[in-house]
Amino acid sequence: MTLADPPAGLSARLRTGTRSEHDRAQGSGFLDRLAAGTLPRAAYADLAAQHWFIYETLERAAAAMADHPVAGAFVFPELTRLPALTEDLTVLAGRAPRPSDADGSPAAGRALRPASDDGLSAAGGASHPARDDGLPGAGPAGRPDRDDGLVWDGRASRPGDDDGLAGDGGQPGDLGLPGDGAELVPLAATREYRARLHAVAFDKPWAFIAHHYTRYLGDLSGGQYLGPAIARAYGLDGAGHRFFVFDGVSPAEFRRRYRELLDAAELSAEDAELLLAEVVEAYRLNIAVLAELKERWAS
Ligand code: HEM
Repeated sequence: MTLADPPAGLSARLRTGTRSEHDRAQGSGFLDRLAAGTLPRAAYADLAAQHWFIYETLERAAAAMADHPVAGAFVFPELTRLPALTEDLTVLAGRAPRPSDADGSPAAGRALRPASDDGLSAAGGASHPARDDGLPGAGPAGRPDRDDGLVWDGRASRPGDDDGLAGDGGQPGDLGLPGDGAELVPLAATREYRARLHAVAFDKPWAFIAHHYTRYLGDLSGGQYLGPAIARAYGLDGAGHRFFVFDGVSPAEFRRRYRELLDAAELSAEDAELLLAEVVEAYRLNIAVLAELKERWAS
């Protein structure tokens, strides 16, 4: 090793060390089919529902880690996705899940199904007034003292939305959807993903950063291509794809600063190895969710 050949930083190690996992996630087929609009709209709603359950846990982990000396640097309220997913599902499926839907038991709610008799299938293009208040549900109350160029605009929650959930706010009738407010349930792979988050991401900084990186950097990368493609494919105009839109965030600039944060993170060599392995695990969990969705919506 020479000065011209420094050890790779964590961001480069993550990027190159998980390239094959990324390629498998990207090539899973389900996302491509959504982007091409060859699946019913309810399949997209199903993806949004699985995301809801995943981010509900991930963003509770973020709240738990907000004050951690190392992991806390990765908690950005402006990335919080749960309110956007709640709004998307209200448009797409008539209502958002509740945390109590998460055990997946039949009594807890009804899954979106490919069958068209549940009122949740492709057609519809419901309109919903564009909202501009996607607000953090789980993050800390804002950090006015940040000086790292990453934006937190510090907006307050809207009245009646203090838990980040739409609750019973979805009015399928108003939205022109034939849905009956069906509840949504997590797939087996989604439950496994949540179990892993519960097991490691609430108290182990390497694990929290690994899961945070895999989801949010992906959302700020490929998600920026997928979002507009899905909106075009399903005729969504402003509402229904808020998950992909990060208000006040420049994705390219954010990715650059995020990589700097990764490289500056004070992790032991052992924890850096654990982090790398956990990113591989996070990709595996995401790939499993996409595979189960693909199977469910195979035609
Ligand atoms: C159709 C699906 C996908 C496409 C087209 C796609 C595309 C991309 C592209 C082009 C980049 C590089 C951005 C850059 O150079 O800055 C990227 C990065 C990334 N993607 Fe994806 N992606 C997809 C699916 C996924 C999935 C399912 C995940 C994980 C859940 C994921 C996680 C990531 C992560 C973590 C990065 C950042 C890598 C790094 O620079 O360290 N992607 N993606």
